[in-house]
Amino acid sequence: MSVGERKPGHAEIGRSVYCGAVGESLAGTEVVLCGWVDRRRDHGGVIFIDLRDRDGIVQVVFDPDCGVHFATADRVRGEYVLRVTGRVRARTPETVNPDMATGRVEVYGVALDILNSAETPPFQLDEHTRVGEEVRLHHRYLDLRRPEMQRNLRLRARVTGALRRFLDGEGFLDIETPILTRATPEGARDYLVPSRTHPGRFFALPQSPQLFKQMLMVSGFDRYYQVARCFRDEDLRADRQPEFTQIDIETSFLAEGDLMALVETMVRGLFAEVLDVELGEFPRMTHADAMARFGSDKPDLRIPLELVDIKDLMAGVEFKVFAAAAADPAGRVTALRLPGGNALSRKQIDDYTAFVARYGARGLAYIKVNNRADLEEGLQSPIVKFLPPAVRRAILDRVGAENGDLIFFGADKATVVAESLGALRCKLGLDLDLYTHAWAPLWVVDFPMFERDGSGGWTPLHHPFTAPSCAPDALRADPGAALSRAYDMVLNGTELGGGSARIHRPELQAAVFDILGIDAAQQREKFGFLLDALKYGCPPHAGIAFGLDRLVMLMLGAASIRDVIAFPKTQSAQCLLTDAPGAVGSEALRDLHIALRPQ
Ligand code: AMO
Ligand code: AMP
Repeated sequence: MSVGERKPGHAEIGRSVYCGAVGESLAGTEVVLCGWVDRRRDHGGVIFIDLRDRDGIVQVVFDPDCGVHFATADRVRGEYVLRVTGRVRARTPETVNPDMATGRVEVYGVALDILNSAETPPFQLDEHTRVGEEVRLHHRYLDLRRPEMQRNLRLRARVTGALRRFLDGEGFLDIETPILTRATPEGARDYLVPSRTHPGRFFALPQSPQLFKQMLMVSGFDRYYQVARCFRDEDLRADRQPEFTQIDIETSFLAEGDLMALVETMVRGLFAEVLDVELGEFPRMTHADAMARFGSDKPDLRIPLELVDIKDLMAGVEFKVFAAAAADPAGRVTALRLPGGNALSRKQIDDYTAFVARYGARGLAYIKVNNRADLEEGLQSPIVKFLPPAVRRAILDRVGAENGDLIFFGADKATVVAESLGALRCKLGLDLDLYTHAWAPLWVVDFPMFERDGSGGWTPLHHPFTAPSCAPDALRADPGAALSRAYDMVLNGTELGGGSARIHRPELQAAVFDILGIDAAQQREKFGFLLDALKYGCPPHAGIAFGLDRLVMLMLGAASIRDVIAFPKTQSAQCLLTDAPGAVGSEALRDLHIALRPQ
């Protein structure tokens, strides 16, 4: 990357080129570099400085011929900020460094200014893996100097830029919605902000711009997007942050199939532009299919393993655990064939048993298929003695077992079996490196409208503004059977985005609130503005939101969402850099009409 011509004779003028862009084409020319000292080595009278900026690292050499500048180079230490003037020269074949992007050249220094000194940093930037993440987050401004973090945030900026360009080109308007607002139900706890001017009342930070984007459709904006910050007080994991960013989209008068096609084109274009990856057409899978075959509503289709239900084969078998699950209408008995799996050791199987226990499974029965023709001696298993030969044969046939395979079994409530074997499937894929391809996008569709909550009521699978596929009467008659017009985009086992066609008639919205147990008074209190807006000519509308952080994390293959966010929170929702959340003085609390209860 060149940053334009340097105006000669102007000492304050900065760099002529980024360090990472110094290449053979510049050999013989003079350059001005600005950056940080990555390393300084003294090789008997010659000083080598690896100078780093956001674009990369280049080696600068100072020898005693450059007089006073050589003495300055001698004073330089790690992370000092320098301006170097020098001549680019090709390295001799013996000194070429193939591990360095700029390793075919070096800069012969002729002048050196120390723009600032630096204390010894709390950790060497290239030794970040040896210090805990806490130290890195505490000194995040240093951690972000690392080339990996620089690359991550640059890619993130490219992604946002490409998505904006696409949406701008498709006639979408970028419209901001409030941060200080009312609760938006997306299934998490709200972050609350006390109001000074309205004693005892609170703003909620938005869990998403959902209701505002729907209002914008009522207002006729037709195509909206926003790079929107969302706030959710929920349990954090590697792919979740309390504060994260959505690419939030809403459209009017567009059938959901057309919206899906549009954003699929957007994501395909993004991968082609930024990663040079062709994703192809995204397959569609129903929620029921995804749960049955992969035990997950976000199946990782890179892994060639599938769950196979065998409930019907287990009625009345001697193995009580299986027979009981088979007799339970909410039960499920499922097999997972692992080709070549009979090489797994006892220890590995025990470890997988402990792994599925985390998801509530009470065991992990298995059969090692040594010789499938011999139903007595050819099957090695703690449970096979409880299964009649005809059942053994039927299982082997149904899962398509071959000699050398291992078959795992789960028997329990359907939810436990799906979660535990679904997770085991992914774990096997990772541990045994079973991935058949690098990128596996898909759409999951036909979600149920509701699921049971802990207290026997209904809770929405998406949010309560999602339209059902059925008529209002059918919805009221059997909420558990109703499907929704929601769709999730899944990539490599991660939910990248989710959306739906929305409810655009007040009666239907009220019916959904009723089913959710939100009575008329609460509907008025919490969502009166929405119900009112729906009365004044709300167009049919549909939208979606993508998790930008997750998207970038996947594109980079990063292990944690924190690696793609400049200033993330920890697992316990703290900012270590600023030590937030912080204490508040009694005066400020008094202004906010807040009294703290003693801890
Ligand atoms: P949803 O709740 O599915 O839908 O969120 C959309 C996408 O946002 C990302 N995401 C998160 N990323 C990081 N940290 C989190 N805590 C987090 N929570 C969610 C996910 C998810 O797919 N208003 C609806 C969208 C709509 O219907 O248009 C919504 O927010 O990638
Ligand atoms: P047990 O009879 O409890 O010793 O279990 C015999 C085998 O069945 C062991 O391999 C257990 O891991 C397995 N097992 C027990 N309960 C279940 C279950 N609910 N689902 C799958 N396998 C199980």
